[in-house]
Amino acid sequence: MKSRNFLSMDNLTKEDIEHILQKALIYKENVVNYSESLKDKNIISIFFENSTRTRTSFELAAKKMGANVINIDYQKSSMQKGETDLDTITNLNAMHPDAFVIRHFYSGYPMFISKISDVPIINAGDGSNEHPSQAMLDLMTMYETKQRIENLNVCIIGDILNSRVAKSHMKMAKKLNWNLSIYGPKTMLPKQEWINGIKIENSLTDAIKNKDFIILLRIQLERKSGSNLSSLQEYSRFFGLRSETTIPSETYIMHPGPVNRDIEISSDLLDTHNNILVTKQVQNGIFARMAIYDFCLN
Ligand code: CP
Repeated sequence: MKSRNFLSMDNLTKEDIEHILQKALIYKENVVNYSESLKDKNIISIFFENSTRTRTSFELAAKKMGANVINIDYQKSSMQKGETDLDTITNLNAMHPDAFVIRHFYSGYPMFISKISDVPIINAGDGSNEHPSQAMLDLMTMYETKQRIENLNVCIIGDILNSRVAKSHMKMAKKLNWNLSIYGPKTMLPKQEWINGIKIENSLTDAIKNKDFIILLRIQLERKSGSNLSSLQEYSRFFGLRSETTIPSETYIMHPGPVNRDIEISSDLLDTHNNILVTKQVQNGIFARMAIYDFCLN
Protein backbone atom coordinates (compact mmCIF):
# COMPACT_ATOMS: atom_id res chain seq x y z
CA MET A 1 0.00 0.00 0.00
CA LYS A 2 1.30 3.47 -0.87
CA SER A 3 1.84 5.63 2.18
CA ARG A 4 0.58 9.19 2.36
CA ASN A 5 1.71 12.15 0.30
CA PHE A 6 2.16 15.57 1.88
CA LEU A 7 1.24 17.89 -0.97
CA SER A 8 -1.22 20.52 0.16
CA MET A 9 -3.11 21.78 3.20
CA ASP A 10 -6.19 20.86 1.14
CA ASN A 11 -5.51 17.20 1.80
CA LEU A 12 -5.24 17.53 5.59
CA THR A 13 -8.21 17.37 7.91
CA LYS A 14 -8.27 19.39 11.10
CA GLU A 15 -7.53 16.12 12.92
CA ASP A 16 -4.50 15.48 10.66
CA ILE A 17 -3.19 18.97 11.44
CA GLU A 18 -3.69 18.44 15.19
CA HIS A 19 -2.03 15.02 14.98
CA ILE A 20 1.05 16.37 13.17
CA LEU A 21 1.28 19.26 15.63
CA GLN A 22 1.07 16.98 18.67
CA LYS A 23 3.77 14.71 17.22
CA ALA A 24 6.03 17.69 16.51
CA LEU A 25 5.64 18.89 20.10
CA ILE A 26 6.45 15.42 21.43
CA TYR A 27 9.56 15.24 19.23
CA LYS A 28 10.66 18.65 20.51
CA GLU A 29 10.16 17.64 24.15
CA ASN A 30 12.37 14.64 23.46
CA VAL A 31 10.18 12.38 25.61
CA VAL A 32 10.19 9.49 23.14
CA ASN A 33 13.12 7.75 21.55
CA TYR A 34 12.65 8.39 17.85
CA SER A 35 16.24 7.86 16.71
CA GLU A 36 15.41 4.64 14.88
CA SER A 37 11.84 5.37 13.82
CA LEU A 38 12.90 5.75 10.17
CA LYS A 39 15.78 3.25 10.35
CA ASP A 40 16.65 1.78 6.93
CA LYS A 41 14.40 4.29 5.14
CA ASN A 42 15.95 6.09 2.17
CA ILE A 43 14.70 9.60 1.46
CA ILE A 44 15.61 11.36 -1.78
CA SER A 45 15.65 15.13 -1.63
CA ILE A 46 15.49 17.11 -4.89
CA PHE A 47 15.50 20.90 -4.78
CA PHE A 48 15.11 22.52 -8.19
CA GLU A 49 15.07 25.90 -6.45
CA ASN A 50 17.39 27.33 -3.80
CA SER A 51 16.74 26.71 -0.12
CA THR A 52 18.52 27.00 3.20
CA ARG A 53 15.91 26.39 5.91
CA THR A 54 13.61 23.84 4.29
CA ARG A 55 16.27 21.67 2.75
CA THR A 56 18.48 21.59 5.85
CA SER A 57 15.64 20.96 8.29
CA PHE A 58 14.12 18.18 6.18
CA GLU A 59 17.58 16.57 6.10
CA LEU A 60 18.21 17.04 9.83
CA ALA A 61 14.72 15.73 10.62
CA ALA A 62 15.30 12.57 8.58
CA LYS A 63 18.72 11.96 10.12
CA LYS A 64 17.40 12.45 13.65
CA MET A 65 14.91 9.67 12.89
CA GLY A 66 17.60 7.33 11.56
CA ALA A 67 16.86 7.64 7.84
CA ASN A 68 19.38 7.88 5.02
CA VAL A 69 19.12 11.08 2.98
CA ILE A 70 20.25 11.29 -0.62
CA ASN A 71 20.46 14.86 -1.89
CA ILE A 72 20.24 15.16 -5.65
CA ASP A 73 22.26 18.16 -6.74
CA TYR A 74 20.25 19.48 -9.67
CA GLN A 75 23.30 21.31 -11.06
CA LYS A 76 25.42 18.13 -11.01
CA SER A 77 22.71 15.69 -12.08
CA SER A 78 22.22 14.16 -15.52
CA MET A 79 19.51 16.76 -16.10
CA GLN A 80 22.44 19.02 -17.00
CA LYS A 81 23.28 16.49 -19.75
CA GLY A 82 19.84 16.84 -21.22
CA GLU A 83 17.87 14.16 -19.35
CA THR A 84 14.34 15.33 -18.69
CA ASP A 85 13.33 15.84 -15.07
CA LEU A 86 10.60 13.25 -15.58
CA ASP A 87 13.11 10.63 -16.77
CA THR A 88 15.39 11.52 -13.85
CA ILE A 89 12.65 11.01 -11.30
CA THR A 90 11.43 7.82 -13.01
CA ASN A 91 14.96 6.43 -12.73
CA LEU A 92 15.29 7.48 -9.09
CA ASN A 93 11.88 5.94 -8.39
CA ALA A 94 13.17 2.66 -9.89
CA MET A 95 15.76 2.56 -7.08
CA HIS A 96 12.86 2.19 -4.61
CA PRO A 97 13.42 5.06 -2.21
CA ASP A 98 10.93 5.40 0.65
CA ALA A 99 10.01 9.04 -0.06
CA PHE A 100 10.83 12.05 -2.19
CA VAL A 101 11.12 15.56 -0.77
CA ILE A 102 10.65 17.95 -3.69
CA ARG A 103 10.90 21.70 -4.15
CA HIS A 104 10.22 23.11 -7.60
CA PHE A 105 9.65 26.50 -9.15
CA TYR A 106 6.56 25.17 -10.98
CA SER A 107 3.26 25.24 -9.10
CA GLY A 108 1.80 21.74 -8.92
CA TYR A 109 5.05 19.92 -9.67
CA PRO A 110 5.03 17.66 -6.54
CA MET A 111 1.39 16.78 -7.28
CA PHE A 112 2.39 15.83 -10.83
CA ILE A 113 5.24 13.63 -9.56
CA SER A 114 2.88 11.92 -7.12
CA LYS A 115 1.00 10.57 -10.15
CA ILE A 116 4.07 8.79 -11.52
CA SER A 117 5.79 7.74 -8.29
CA ASP A 118 4.67 4.96 -6.01
CA VAL A 119 6.29 6.41 -2.86
CA PRO A 120 5.20 9.38 -0.70
CA ILE A 121 5.89 12.80 -2.19
CA ILE A 122 6.53 15.59 0.31
CA ASN A 123 6.05 19.10 -1.02
CA ALA A 124 8.91 21.37 0.10
CA GLY A 125 7.43 24.36 -1.73
CA ASP A 126 6.06 24.52 -5.29
CA GLY A 127 6.15 27.77 -7.22
CA SER A 128 3.58 30.20 -5.94
CA ASN A 129 1.20 27.38 -5.01
CA GLU A 130 1.88 25.99 -1.52
CA HIS A 131 4.44 25.45 1.22
CA PRO A 132 2.53 23.15 3.58
CA SER A 133 5.45 22.21 5.83
CA GLN A 134 6.05 25.93 6.48
CA ALA A 135 2.40 26.24 7.51
CA MET A 136 2.86 23.36 9.97
CA LEU A 137 6.02 24.78 11.55
CA ASP A 138 4.36 28.18 11.78
CA LEU A 139 1.37 26.60 13.49
CA MET A 140 3.66 24.88 15.99
CA THR A 141 5.28 28.24 16.75
CA MET A 142 1.87 29.86 17.18
CA TYR A 143 0.75 27.11 19.55
CA GLU A 144 3.87 27.50 21.68
CA THR A 145 3.29 31.25 21.82
CA LYS A 146 -0.48 31.44 22.48
CA GLN A 147 -1.27 27.87 23.64
CA ARG A 148 -4.02 27.53 21.07
CA ILE A 149 -4.40 27.04 17.31
CA GLU A 150 -8.06 27.89 16.72
CA ASN A 151 -9.76 31.29 16.48
CA LEU A 152 -6.46 33.15 16.09
CA ASN A 153 -6.38 36.73 14.81
CA VAL A 154 -3.79 36.75 12.04
CA CYS A 155 -2.79 39.22 9.33
CA ILE A 156 -0.51 38.29 6.42
CA ILE A 157 1.37 41.26 4.99
CA GLY A 158 3.13 41.42 1.64
CA ASP A 159 3.10 39.72 -1.74
CA ILE A 160 0.09 37.46 -1.17
CA LEU A 161 -0.27 36.83 -4.91
CA ASN A 162 3.10 35.13 -5.36
CA SER A 163 3.45 33.60 -1.91
CA ARG A 164 3.10 29.85 -1.46
CA VAL A 165 3.33 30.40 2.30
CA ALA A 166 0.24 32.63 2.20
CA LYS A 167 -1.71 30.08 0.14
CA SER A 168 -1.04 27.27 2.64
CA HIS A 169 -1.94 29.56 5.55
CA MET A 170 -5.19 30.64 3.89
CA LYS A 171 -6.24 26.99 3.58
CA MET A 172 -5.19 26.22 7.16
CA ALA A 173 -7.01 29.33 8.45
CA LYS A 174 -10.35 27.97 7.21
CA LYS A 175 -9.84 24.64 8.93
CA LEU A 176 -8.89 26.31 12.22
CA ASN A 177 -11.44 29.11 12.10
CA TRP A 178 -8.91 31.92 12.16
CA ASN A 179 -9.93 35.52 11.80
CA LEU A 180 -7.52 36.04 8.88
CA SER A 181 -6.85 39.31 7.07
CA ILE A 182 -4.33 40.40 4.47
CA TYR A 183 -2.53 43.62 3.69
CA GLY A 184 -0.31 44.53 0.78
CA PRO A 185 -0.01 46.57 -2.39
CA LYS A 186 -3.09 46.11 -4.60
CA THR A 187 -0.84 44.65 -7.31
CA MET A 188 0.12 41.89 -4.88
CA LEU A 189 -3.35 40.75 -3.88
CA PRO A 190 -4.66 37.52 -5.42
CA LYS A 191 -7.79 36.84 -7.44
CA GLN A 192 -11.08 37.36 -5.64
CA GLU A 193 -11.76 33.60 -5.51
CA TRP A 194 -8.71 33.20 -3.27
CA ILE A 195 -9.70 35.88 -0.82
CA ASN A 196 -13.45 35.42 -0.43
CA GLY A 197 -14.20 35.89 3.23
CA ILE A 198 -10.76 37.32 3.97
CA LYS A 199 -10.63 40.94 5.09
CA ILE A 200 -8.27 43.33 3.30
CA GLU A 201 -6.78 45.81 5.76
CA ASN A 202 -6.61 49.48 4.77
CA SER A 203 -3.45 50.51 6.58
CA LEU A 204 -0.48 49.06 8.43
CA THR A 205 -1.96 50.37 11.68
CA ASP A 206 -5.19 48.43 11.03
CA ALA A 207 -3.22 45.37 9.91
CA ILE A 208 -1.40 45.21 13.24
CA LYS A 209 -4.35 46.16 15.47
CA ASN A 210 -5.79 43.37 17.67
CA LYS A 211 -3.72 40.63 16.06
CA ASP A 212 -2.18 37.59 17.70
CA PHE A 213 0.24 37.15 14.81
CA ILE A 214 1.54 39.15 11.86
CA ILE A 215 3.05 37.00 9.12
CA LEU A 216 5.40 39.08 6.98
CA LEU A 217 6.05 37.74 3.50
CA ARG A 218 9.27 38.02 1.61
CA ILE A 219 9.41 40.26 -1.41
CA GLN A 220 10.53 37.65 -3.89
CA LEU A 221 12.96 39.60 -5.99
CA GLU A 222 13.91 36.44 -7.90
CA ARG A 223 10.26 35.89 -8.86
CA LYS A 224 7.60 38.36 -9.93
CA SER A 225 7.37 40.60 -6.87
CA GLY A 226 9.68 43.26 -8.20
CA SER A 227 7.57 43.93 -11.28
CA ASN A 228 4.54 44.63 -9.08
CA LEU A 229 6.24 47.42 -7.14
CA SER A 230 7.24 50.93 -8.02
CA SER A 231 10.17 50.77 -5.59
CA LEU A 232 11.39 48.80 -2.60
CA GLN A 233 11.68 52.02 -0.61
CA GLU A 234 7.99 52.69 -1.20
CA TYR A 235 7.12 49.14 -0.17
CA SER A 236 9.14 49.51 3.02
CA ARG A 237 7.47 52.85 3.78
CA PHE A 238 3.88 51.63 3.49
CA PHE A 239 4.03 47.88 4.14
CA GLY A 240 7.23 47.26 6.10
CA LEU A 241 7.60 47.17 9.88
CA ARG A 242 9.93 50.02 10.77
CA SER A 243 11.71 51.18 13.91
CA GLU A 244 8.87 53.59 14.65
CA THR A 245 6.09 50.99 14.17
CA THR A 246 4.29 50.28 17.43
CA ILE A 247 3.88 46.55 17.94
CA PRO A 248 1.42 45.74 20.75
CA SER A 249 2.83 43.48 23.46
CA GLU A 250 0.32 40.72 22.61
CA THR A 251 1.19 40.72 18.88
CA TYR A 252 3.94 38.44 17.56
CA ILE A 253 5.83 38.82 14.30
CA MET A 254 6.61 35.90 12.02
CA HIS A 255 8.47 35.62 8.71
CA PRO A 256 9.20 32.42 6.76
CA GLY A 257 12.59 33.74 5.64
CA PRO A 258 14.82 34.57 4.02
CA VAL A 259 14.22 38.12 5.25
CA ASN A 260 15.00 41.12 3.06
CA ARG A 261 16.32 43.32 5.86
CA ASP A 262 14.99 46.88 5.93
CA ILE A 263 12.32 46.03 3.34
CA GLU A 264 9.78 43.77 5.10
CA ILE A 265 11.13 44.69 8.54
CA SER A 266 13.86 46.98 9.80
CA SER A 267 17.03 45.34 11.03
CA ASP A 268 16.73 46.84 14.51
CA LEU A 269 13.24 45.38 15.02
CA LEU A 270 14.29 42.03 13.61
CA ASP A 271 17.35 41.81 15.81
CA THR A 272 16.07 43.26 19.07
CA HIS A 273 12.28 43.21 19.42
CA ASN A 274 11.01 40.67 21.96
CA ASN A 275 8.04 39.55 19.85
CA ILE A 276 9.98 38.35 16.80
CA LEU A 277 9.53 34.60 16.29
CA VAL A 278 11.67 34.09 13.18
CA THR A 279 14.41 32.00 14.78
CA LYS A 280 11.88 29.94 16.72
CA GLN A 281 10.10 29.18 13.45
CA VAL A 282 13.34 27.82 12.01
CA GLN A 283 14.00 25.70 15.13
CA ASN A 284 10.51 24.27 14.99
CA GLY A 285 10.98 23.40 11.32
CA ILE A 286 13.00 20.35 12.27
CA PHE A 287 10.33 18.96 14.62
CA ALA A 288 7.41 19.78 12.32
CA ARG A 289 9.19 18.00 9.47
CA MET A 290 9.93 14.99 11.68
CA ALA A 291 6.19 14.81 12.34
CA ILE A 292 5.50 15.09 8.61
CA TYR A 293 7.82 12.16 7.91
CA ASP A 294 6.03 10.20 10.61
CA PHE A 295 2.66 11.08 9.04
CA CYS A 296 3.79 9.96 5.56
CA LEU A 297 5.99 6.99 6.32
CA ASN A 298 4.92 5.33 9.55
N1 CP B 1 11.08 29.37 4.45
C1 CP B 1 11.75 28.81 3.42
O1 CP B 1 11.19 28.07 2.59
O2 CP B 1 13.09 29.08 3.39
P1 CP B 1 14.13 28.44 2.37
O3 CP B 1 13.80 28.94 1.01
O4 CP B 1 15.49 28.85 2.85
O5 CP B 1 13.95 26.94 2.44
